Amino acid sequence: MTIRAEIQDGIARIEIARPERKNAISGQMYGQMADVLIAAAGDASVRAVVLHGSDSVFSAGNDIQDFLQQPAPDGNSNTQRFMNALAGQERPVIGAVNGAAVGIGTTLLLHCDLVFAADDAMFSMPFVNLGLCPEFASSLLVPLSAGYHKAAEKLLLGDPISAEEAVEMGLVNRQVPPRQVLEYAMHQARRFCALPPEAVRQTKRLLKAGWRAAVQQTMGTEFEAFAQLLRSPESHEALSAFLERRKPDFARVASAAGGAAAPRE
Ligand code: COA
Repeated sequence: MTIRAEIQDGIARIEIARPERKNAISGQMYGQMADVLIAAAGDASVRAVVLHGSDSVFSAGNDIQDFLQQPAPDGNSNTQRFMNALAGQERPVIGAVNGAAVGIGTTLLLHCDLVFAADDAMFSMPFVNLGLCPEFASSLLVPLSAGYHKAAEKLLLGDPISAEEAVEMGLVNRQVPPRQVLEYAMHQARRFCALPPEAVRQTKRLLKAGWRAAVQQTMGTEFEAFAQLLRSPESHEALSAFLERRKPDFARVASAAGGAAAPRE
């Protein structure tokens, strides 16, 4: 099982369910989630979307094996389709987080409208540590929420973010006891079902209007930089080291490339 989804009583619920890989998201899973979001957008009965993971992990981010096998990402990939459908979703989207939310596991939450996190949730955007850079407008949205210096700490050093700190940074609405997170998110979703849908839709559109164009533009510039870095020896070393359960050796990579991190073919 990878993605479980249902549309019921006005709520589209998407569960990331790949526990053996800590809910790392593969290309196929992005495609499944994109299809649900697109179906929700075309279904007038849907009033809210809830996105969650398992009891112990939200998502370990993009499948690292996929990154290694496909170092030349495609602008029309399922990942792009999913993130565009999420960023452009007219219904309110609610994220419910237990455990770790790594990489795109955190980035996708920046595009949700409400985020609730277990007390033991842990967020991180370790792009630099993986030889990569921010993606899907995180270089814009994290500073917008948390201010430049906090964003720099989390995006330049890749430091983890506790649930408490995520609330302080404006990335999460509220901490909730771990066993109550999903029910709390569903409760908020049911509140949307009782509100007038057109007023909710227009309000969400207006709330995001100030930076919608900048989000689109930033996604494009980040994609180019990310795609270039994904082909670099640095990222190859970092991603391989994660799967091989060892520390990356960036000095060895630089010396093998004659001091410069030349792109991989
Ligand atoms: N892609 C592919 N496989 C992944 C993965 C990912 N993003 N994250 C975890 N896995 C795999 C591990 O390789 C391991 O596989 P194995 O049992 O065959 O060795 C399995 O899932 C369990 O992971 P493990 O790290 O042992 O679990 P943990 O409970 O110790 O830690 C996390 C859980 C989520 C904290 C840790 O897996 C992690 O940090 N993953 C994030 C990787 C990352 O940097 N993602 C960002 C990509 S941009």
